[in-house]
Amino acid sequence: MSLFDSATQAPADPILGLSSQFKKDTRENKVNLGVGVFVDAHGVTPVLPSVLNVEKQLADASASKSYLPMTGSPAYASATQNLCFGQSLASQLDGRIVTAQTPGGTGALRVAGDFLKRTTGTLPVWLSNPTWANHKGIFTTAGHTLKEYAYFDSATNAVDRDAFFADLQTIPAGDVAVIHACCHNPTGADLSADDWKQVAAIASDKGWLPLLDFAYQGFGENIDADAVGVRTLAEAGLPVIVCQSFSKNFGLYQDRIGALHIVCASTEEATRVKSQVELCIRTNYSNPPAHGGAIVTAILNDPTLTSQWDQEVAGMRDRIKTTRADFVSALQQAGVSRDFSFLMDQKGMFSFTGITVEQVTRLREEFAIYMVNSGRINVAGITPSNLTQVAGAIKTVIG
Ligand code: LMR
Repeated sequence: MSLFDSATQAPADPILGLSSQFKKDTRENKVNLGVGVFVDAHGVTPVLPSVLNVEKQLADASASKSYLPMTGSPAYASATQNLCFGQSLASQLDGRIVTAQTPGGTGALRVAGDFLKRTTGTLPVWLSNPTWANHKGIFTTAGHTLKEYAYFDSATNAVDRDAFFADLQTIPAGDVAVIHACCHNPTGADLSADDWKQVAAIASDKGWLPLLDFAYQGFGENIDADAVGVRTLAEAGLPVIVCQSFSKNFGLYQDRIGALHIVCASTEEATRVKSQVELCIRTNYSNPPAHGGAIVTAILNDPTLTSQWDQEVAGMRDRIKTTRADFVSALQQAGVSRDFSFLMDQKGMFSFTGITVEQVTRLREEFAIYMVNSGRINVAGITPSNLTQVAGAIKTVIG
């Protein structure tokens, strides 16, 4: 009899569980279109040259390993505020944004969930249908209840704008709506700048709190264009929470680096909010790891490195865009009759292919091609060497 007898086997994570399964697969031709990790045309997840450069400098400088403050480095806070909100808006909001350096975007989301629970109690948290699988776990584990708003129309493979705006109108004051700031995960279907104005108007009219998950800045159009949602809401004077991740755009996946920004109504409110955020962090991981934040800060505070990094992000974005087009032609060449040209309109790493769970299973079992059960693919996982194989296998399973 063990004290842990009551620990039942948990279900595998729909995304990271797939990565473990992929690792164990011994087939040589296996292809991973599951987890959202960028790979280059050779299938390698690169360390960005700007990052490598800074890491060498940091190693030589051998900075202290003493604790950071609970909310992380102040220099990181201001650098990431500028990236997120743009310099002019960030300075207008000076003193009103509470920023915490967090372990990844997931850490930012969880601290946000804990902060809301601690300050307002259990809240209905509205998630897009569909959304990133982990949103559900993060907000329920933080003690909230879940609701869903319409987002994607699988008939048009685009945002179902009428249903989306209609649902936003029904969200009661004080509830939270989690919205993907850009490069919607899992669909790749994004809101336009005009759509964001409408989102701001509805949030302001109805009084719900927008919480933006901002994990792919730079993977859609460019660094500034991808921030349009965040900036439109903040410019409208709304309270807003933003959870940023630097896993993808800095390639810092394993360094776990993100940021939580809470835009407050006044500096006095910001002081109180910060004290509550600190409590959430102190009782969870105490203070953040420093390495990833030091890299991001060094790059963003040096104009030459920033422009190098911007080019590197453009390189990743362009590869994904080119791959989308190549994949659509490969599917046509493989004889697939279904029109997949919508893949070229979608943004960021992911697309919802419309491939059914049965077909996903066949692709995995018979062809060693891994994708999330929802039919989501990481487009970056398609490379020149697996393109024909993937297109051919899809032809076989969907006909
Ligand atoms: C994904 O959606 O694949 C990524 O955000 C990685 C993850 O943590 O799920």
